[in-house]
Amino acid sequence: MSSLFSPIKLGPVEFSNRIVVSPMCQYSADDGTATDWHLGHLAMLANSGAGLLIVEATHVERHGRITHGCMGLYSDDNEAALTRVIAHCRRAGTAKFGIQIAHAGRKASSQRPWEGGGSLPPGSDPWETIAPSPIPFGPNWHVPRVATLEDISRVREAFVNSAKRSVQIGFEAIELHYAHGYLAHSFLSPVSNHRTDQYGGSLENRMRFGCEIAQAVRAAVPKTIALGARITGSDWRDEGLSAGDAVTYAKALKACGLDYIDVSSGGINADTRNPTEPGYNVPIAERIKREAGVATRVVGLITTPGQAEAIVAGGKADMVALARGLLDDPRWGWHAAIMLGAEVSRVPQYQRAAPKLWAPAAQRRA
Ligand SMILES: Cc1cc2nc3c(=O)[nH]c(=O)nc-3n(C[C@H](O)[C@H](O)[C@H](O)COP(=O)(O)O)c2cc1C
Repeated sequence: MSSLFSPIKLGPVEFSNRIVVSPMCQYSADDGTATDWHLGHLAMLANSGAGLLIVEATHVERHGRITHGCMGLYSDDNEAALTRVIAHCRRAGTAKFGIQIAHAGRKASSQRPWEGGGSLPPGSDPWETIAPSPIPFGPNWHVPRVATLEDISRVREAFVNSAKRSVQIGFEAIELHYAHGYLAHSFLSPVSNHRTDQYGGSLENRMRFGCEIAQAVRAAVPKTIALGARITGSDWRDEGLSAGDAVTYAKALKACGLDYIDVSSGGINADTRNPTEPGYNVPIAERIKREAGVATRVVGLITTPGQAEAIVAGGKADMVALARGLLDDPRWGWHAAIMLGAEVSRVPQYQRAAPKLWAPAAQRRA
């Protein structure tokens, strides 16, 4: 029996299997508002066989967006459009839905990747960014303004408000984006946080920003919602965050009431490079799962059903997330089920899809 295709509960919410669509920015929103692109894209991935689909980084304030095309959940228009998209995707697919809420910090005010991916140049409507310290993400990036205590409490309230909007939309899971060099990660990492107040210095102080948001969101969101965070397992730099720091942070976030931790890594500086071996975050996730005793998901170069099955069956993580693999093969979960001899639900319209036609060949490739 496949472990990957066994159900899992995060808090009170049950998901039919351990496959998760990783959040993926589409840079296709209009002032934070989802467009028809999202209708098609998310409906496609709702039919991937994954038990949970996490909607892309959705920003809690307008100036917290990465690009002019990034999603937000800071206005009634944002909420109305996403309500329509998610209602459509529920009719069109089988996944449950989560949303990643985020603030881009010093990586905000950027170009879309296909426009160059750097800081927005003058004339492209750039905006002021905030960060724990006035250290840019890299050469030619905006120098961020130091976040004041007022900024910190405004952003915390913005996370709470976006979480409340997410509950109204009907998401089953809410995920705090605490990785990839964005605002919360930049508070945690000693690479980007040189503050001397209660939000800087010791690891305990650097964790304060993320922990306060986690507590405030947990208090505002019913227990019926699975609440988690994507954190960084390593900065992949000698002077940066280590796997041991990630274990400490995971324990603290669990104590704040989070139901799960997703382990990603990297992105604290423009010149940081992640490892390139398959499943490079798995050893860190395994440590977090064992030492923090929290439901753990892992992401990063997980591509084959056999690899995903081995991670879950081996007790290294409770769930796996895929990003690029699912863009490449949006029916990855269906195909994995065939290869692993498991069942996956399909919408009635697609029940005549014919796995039996190619099952023998697929099983030979697993
Ligand atoms: C197009 C694209 C958009 C992404 N957007 C997000 C995002 O919104 N939030 C996030 O946490 N990670 C984002 N990521 C990172 C992925 O979620 C994932 O962590 C990373 O790609 C590694 O997983 P993979 O090897 O399965 O692609 C994005 C990746 C891609 C390819």
